[in-house]
Amino acid sequence: MKDFILQCNNIKKSFQIGKKKLEVLKGISLDLERSQWLMLLGASGSGKTTLLNILGTLEQPNSGSLKFDGRNYTEYNPTRLRNEKIGFVFQSYHLLPELNVLENVMLPAQLGGDYSLKKRAIELIERVGLKDRAHHRPTELSGGECQRAAIARALINRPELLLADEPTGNLDTATGHEIMELFRELHRDQKSPLSIIMITHNPDLAHSYGTRSLTISDGRIAPEN
Ligand SMILES: Nc1ncnc2c1ncn2[C@@H]1O[C@H](COP(=O)(O)OP(=O)(O)OP(=O)(O)O)[C@@H](O)[C@H]1O
Ligand SMILES: [Mg+2]
Repeated sequence: MKDFILQCNNIKKSFQIGKKKLEVLKGISLDLERSQWLMLLGASGSGKTTLLNILGTLEQPNSGSLKFDGRNYTEYNPTRLRNEKIGFVFQSYHLLPELNVLENVMLPAQLGGDYSLKKRAIELIERVGLKDRAHHRPTELSGGECQRAAIARALINRPELLLADEPTGNLDTATGHEIMELFRELHRDQKSPLSIIMITHNPDLAHSYGTRSLTISDGRIAPEN
């Protein structure tokens, strides 16, 4: 039997803009097996971020069902599901400028009520190659270094699923590849299996790094080839 970390069935989402209803997701169904690395492609405005936000409980669908680890999302406390099981990485890093790397990495854990994770945070900072930058603030880091810090932060609560929205979109090609190599190491090395859904505009990246790719087109998943 397949071990699905995520199952999403017939997700629909529309936005009301004035009198007009914009149907963005028109029935998205997809399953993610544990430790798969799914790449999501699609034109700008096709609804990739909207879908990722729904999968990460940041937005609500209008209809459809979602399961994490075989249990309906409605059975979870959404905040705990988001904080404890899911890690997020964004194109623009979303680091807090007034905190240094170590403080940024520890932040989600502190929100979860656990203050004893400094050791793990330092291990993660070393893991992502920022050993000498732990006490620097984001303004003192390059884009690639900021993204490394954001990846460490996403992993602090040992998530089972990592959601990444164009994590190399702001980086030059070489730095982007370094970050993708880091994702690859994490995907392979994690003692507990890490599943990844990543949005990218770059089909070559999707092909080189993902274990599977899907394209969103006209609000639906285009047939797999
Ligand atoms: N909160 C919102 N209110 C109204 N419209 C929205 C909202 N969020 C997204 N949209 C619209 O939904 C559509 C899909 O947006 P989304 O950000 O999911 O696209 P995307 O595929 O991630 O695009 P990109 O590749 O440019 O990031 C767009 O037309 C966008 O304007
Ligand atoms: Mg987007």
